[in-house]
Amino acid sequence: MAVRTENPRAVIVGAGAVGLALGTCLHYAGWRLSYVVRDGDAPHPLEEHGIRRSGIFGESIVPATAIDVRRSFESLRDEDFHVLLVCTKTTSSTDVARALGAVWYTLAREPLVVLCQNGWGNAERFAAWMPRDRIFNARIITGFRRISAHAVDVTVHADSIHLGSLFGESTDALKPLCEAIAIGGIPCELSADIQADLWAKVLYNCLLNPLGALVGVPYGALGECEETRNMIEEVAREIFEVLARTGHHTHWHSAEAYLETFYRDLLPPTAQHESSMLQDLRAGRPTEIDALCGAVTRLGIAHDVQTPVNEALTRLVHLAERRAPSDP
Ligand SMILES: NC(=O)c1ccc[n+]([C@@H]2O[C@H](COP(=O)([O-])OP(=O)(O)OC[C@H]3O[C@@H](n4cnc5c(N)ncnc54)[C@H](OP(=O)(O)O)[C@@H]3O)[C@@H](O)[C@H]2O)c1
Repeated sequence: MAVRTENPRAVIVGAGAVGLALGTCLHYAGWRLSYVVRDGDAPHPLEEHGIRRSGIFGESIVPATAIDVRRSFESLRDEDFHVLLVCTKTTSSTDVARALGAVWYTLAREPLVVLCQNGWGNAERFAAWMPRDRIFNARIITGFRRISAHAVDVTVHADSIHLGSLFGESTDALKPLCEAIAIGGIPCELSADIQADLWAKVLYNCLLNPLGALVGVPYGALGECEETRNMIEEVAREIFEVLARTGHHTHWHSAEAYLETFYRDLLPPTAQHESSMLQDLRAGRPTEIDALCGAVTRLGIAHDVQTPVNEALTRLVHLAERRAPSDP
């Protein structure tokens, strides 16, 4: 049964592109908003300027007075909030899970923890610190670009945000959040099969992000070159082998079926896109490769599946991370 949440409050961890955009939706729907940021003591831009969202779903503004900014999880001790959205990169998942875990049993209620991240393995990290029945995932294939510390642009939208549980929990408790995101302007639906949705996104990311970052070309060019095309197809085959061996699944039953959809429907609309992993490398930021090809490799090792191409891509991206952004 859906629980109507009175005077709902959300805590958003990570005031980046996704966190800012989802915050505008929840504010518009009447939710109270807190952000956990990792900046020091200086006033945070959100406290001075609020949030401005632009782009394909229209303008939306959150005044600074409506935002409560926290600099630590400790400050949430004993507090009461309904939902916590994790909107950091996967590279911060372990730290965030541990910090949330440290205050979890002091909270006035156990919030729903919704992981709004790419990749595979995030939910298990959080499950080490809090009950599985509170952990949910969001599959997001909308594109957000942070244009300043307090402004975000919604650039593309492929499908509704999907919310669901990887641990077999009912999606009923997610209804108020789902409705609020949709009221705030970004289509959102509950998913009874979030595992299939997440693996579909992992597939797309593993096939294109690392190669796009390493070769430095838009996605379309990767599909046109025989060498990169062969690698894309090997990455897909390895992932389907891992899915078969681990008992996981996605919306396609074989690499060949997925690749047909990939070349026909998925690659063409994003042919001009540059890999966000390439942008991370250029900016000297760690990439999310460990939650993508790295996660596939780890599952392969655990289940005796050879994943040489995913492993090579993981190693090469880590090598590229260690080079200074200005290195030739
Ligand atoms: N952007 C998109 O279009 C999009 C679409 C779908 C899915 N995703 C996924 O969504 C996730 C977030 O992506 P994003 O683009 O929003 O990333 P982002 O713009 O880099 O934002 C991440 C934010 O998290 C903050 N952060 C990191 N560690 C933290 C911690 N321990 N405590 C508090 N804040 C912390 C970062 O702070 P600093 O500013 O201090 O680094 C940054 O503000 C990723 O997994 C991404 O793959 C993104």
